[in-house]
Amino acid sequence: MRFDPWNPDFVAHPYDVYAELRATSPVTFFEPTGQWLVARHADVNALLRDRRLGRSYLHVATHEEFGREPEPEFQAPFWRVIRAGMLDVEPPVHTRLRRLVSKAFTPRMVESLRPRIRKVATELAEGLVERGGGDLIAEVAEPLPVLVIAEMLGIPEADRHLLRPWSADICGMYELNPSLEAQHTAVRAAEEFSAYLRELSRARREAPGDDLISALAQVVDEGDRLTEDELIGTCVLLLNAGHEATVNVTGNGWWSLFRNPDELARLRADLSLLPTAVEELMRYDTPLQMFERWVLEPITVHGVEIPRGVEVALLFGSANRDEAVFDAPARLDVGRRDNPHISFGAGIHFCLGAPLARIELAESFAALLRAAPGLTLAEAPTWKPGYVIRGLSALQVTV
Ligand code: HEM
Repeated sequence: MRFDPWNPDFVAHPYDVYAELRATSPVTFFEPTGQWLVARHADVNALLRDRRLGRSYLHVATHEEFGREPEPEFQAPFWRVIRAGMLDVEPPVHTRLRRLVSKAFTPRMVESLRPRIRKVATELAEGLVERGGGDLIAEVAEPLPVLVIAEMLGIPEADRHLLRPWSADICGMYELNPSLEAQHTAVRAAEEFSAYLRELSRARREAPGDDLISALAQVVDEGDRLTEDELIGTCVLLLNAGHEATVNVTGNGWWSLFRNPDELARLRADLSLLPTAVEELMRYDTPLQMFERWVLEPITVHGVEIPRGVEVALLFGSANRDEAVFDAPARLDVGRRDNPHISFGAGIHFCLGAPLARIELAESFAALLRAAPGLTLAEAPTWKPGYVIRGLSALQVTV
């Protein structure tokens, strides 16, 4: 098999192909997307921190100057939302946006949420046990992070069911070469989501609550530090990034544990291993397999000259299995100590939600391990078609 992100077999088992890439072609051109694939940990890590690359190029060049077609007009509402969030901008705008929201995500702030997260995780796990099992993704993995981020932002309970579909539709645009249909679906979701948040944030400016949207809405009123579009872009980013990967780490993580029953038994017998287990599950089956960067100034990697205006695709899933960095990388070791995995990224866009994600994951695994000592896999799971955002569509279990 070769690198083929549209092939379900590759999506299910990408790791042998990655090993081959790391060994024989650590930097290789991938014709179907016109990108350079980067497979080794040291290179992925270095390029994420290298300011000669950026998530965007629009702060230094126009589409034409970068030899790219302008985006189709119909995509404008999508880009208006996405480029107003910190993930798709570079300094100085990135620095300003990140500083405004980072206060809400410090380890101390998110630690104060732990009791609430534990309570919700326990209720969800006990619900699954009462029903004798079911789909772990739909019943535990999804509801926990969606509820946590929705509560933080102050999304009314009655509206929360809208978040998953909007997020999933928007994320369709992040896959490689998305179909025209997926593009239209993403644009529609971005329009609906931003209209919803515009209305909600205006209401919160009038009548603030004790939530992040109200806090950010006050910043809009205080002058030029946050525009209304930036407020909406930030909320969309937080709501989407705040659950997509966490859902997939939970699902992929349990699937990894079921395939490694000795490690599952080891974790069950000693829950103090949870912190290292969470990091290991994020490394072993990486939820976000690839992130891209634009080359803003020419770079050379392993003797390969990559010119300005080209995109590199950093293979996180491969970096996390690099034998140059990890001892026995194909082995799941829930007690792994030296684990510099790259799943939260690196450099200025390093995941803002990492402390929150770590708490959610530890509490979610702990709750299920405690509530369901006999949790077993009921049937082999299937993968969603996405490669970049890679997760299971369902994980049927019995208790
Ligand atoms: C296990 C779960 C998670 C994983 C694996 C993950 C992974 C990542 C990665 C790899 C990036 C950087 C992307 C890049 O450099 O191109 C990132 C950025 C980000 N993540 Fe997470 N994330 C997770 C959970 C969360 C949560 C719970 C939040 C909460 C709000 C969150 C919010 C963000 C934000 C706001 C950014 C943009 C940061 C910036 O551009 O400065 N993430 N995440």
